[in-house]
Amino acid sequence: MILVTGATGNIGTELVKHLSTDGVRMRVITRDEKKVSHLDASVERVIGDRNDSSTIRQALQGVDKVFLLPVLLDKNHDADRLLIEAAKQAGVQLIVQISSGAVRMEAKGGIGGLHREVEQLIEDSGIAWTFLRPGGFMSNTLQWAATIKSQSKVFNPTGEGKTAPISPYDIAAVAAVALISSGHERKAYDLTGPELLSSREQVEILSKVTGRFIECVDIPIEVAAKSAIANGLPEILVESLTEIWKRIRAGGGTFQTNEVERLTGRPAQTFETWCHEHRSAFL
Ligand SMILES: NC(=O)c1ccc[n+]([C@@H]2O[C@H](COP(=O)([O-])OP(=O)(O)OC[C@H]3O[C@@H](n4cnc5c(N)ncnc54)[C@H](OP(=O)(O)O)[C@@H]3O)[C@@H](O)[C@H]2O)c1
Repeated sequence: MILVTGATGNIGTELVKHLSTDGVRMRVITRDEKKVSHLDASVERVIGDRNDSSTIRQALQGVDKVFLLPVLLDKNHDADRLLIEAAKQAGVQLIVQISSGAVRMEAKGGIGGLHREVEQLIEDSGIAWTFLRPGGFMSNTLQWAATIKSQSKVFNPTGEGKTAPISPYDIAAVAAVALISSGHERKAYDLTGPELLSSREQVEILSKVTGRFIECVDIPIEVAAKSAIANGLPEILVESLTEIWKRIRAGGGTFQTNEVERLTGRPAQTFETWCHEHRSAFL
């Protein structure tokens, strides 16, 4: 039995589909029952908060593997500590954790540092682990939908810097491989999409797929940071994003791997394919 945390999120939604296709027994945990009401009756569900110890004990009954999406902005990692300690007591054999490519750049502080701290909690538990360290998600561009719809514009703090955005579908595909097949214990995988693209190039692809002209407007990083805070993003996240934007703008985001293809046996999804699948969100 596999316990899937974050099952209603970008990666988790896709992971549940992958595991269902493979006929794997699984249980999901969510705070909102409605978000999992569409799932097949064979998928077990526990409704509750990751900070609640009785919910976690219930979720782990009979579980041998866990997909862990960290509750990241909790600096003390209380929810993740609770899950990891309870998993050890429940005899869990493997934790596949979503970490971040930012671990390579900031092992202390920021998003990378927080992910590394959770990795260390798992390492210290003695449970076998696989760490998935993706770069930026293609789904981050959903944050552009509001200004695309209202002004046909995307405001871009990363200049001509390139990254290799990855589809959550592919992260989930790798997670399914790590959960189902053996040989991935004590391995950390750096996951990216198949092509290096600037934001302007991503906007051009989105324009082509949606059939509407979208302008990519260069803005200073400080302006983007203020706007992110005004939109309710936590300060710690914005501070870390600011550092990441600076690095990308200076050309430091040009990192691409072929790990998705090596591990799943098929090429990683292109940004154009992802845009076709999510076209309606931008119209
Ligand atoms: N975006 C990027 O570019 C990027 C890059 C590298 C790494 N990452 C990492 O990827 C992760 C985000 O993945 P995602 O986009 O798939 O997540 P997401 O779409 O933001 O979904 C978050 C999930 O976490 C669950 N959750 C949060 N707090 C919970 C709690 N207290 N109790 C129970 N469930 C809780 C939510 O479940 P319910 O609401 O259903 O309860 C939801 O399913 C983060 O750790 C991030 O740092 C992101």
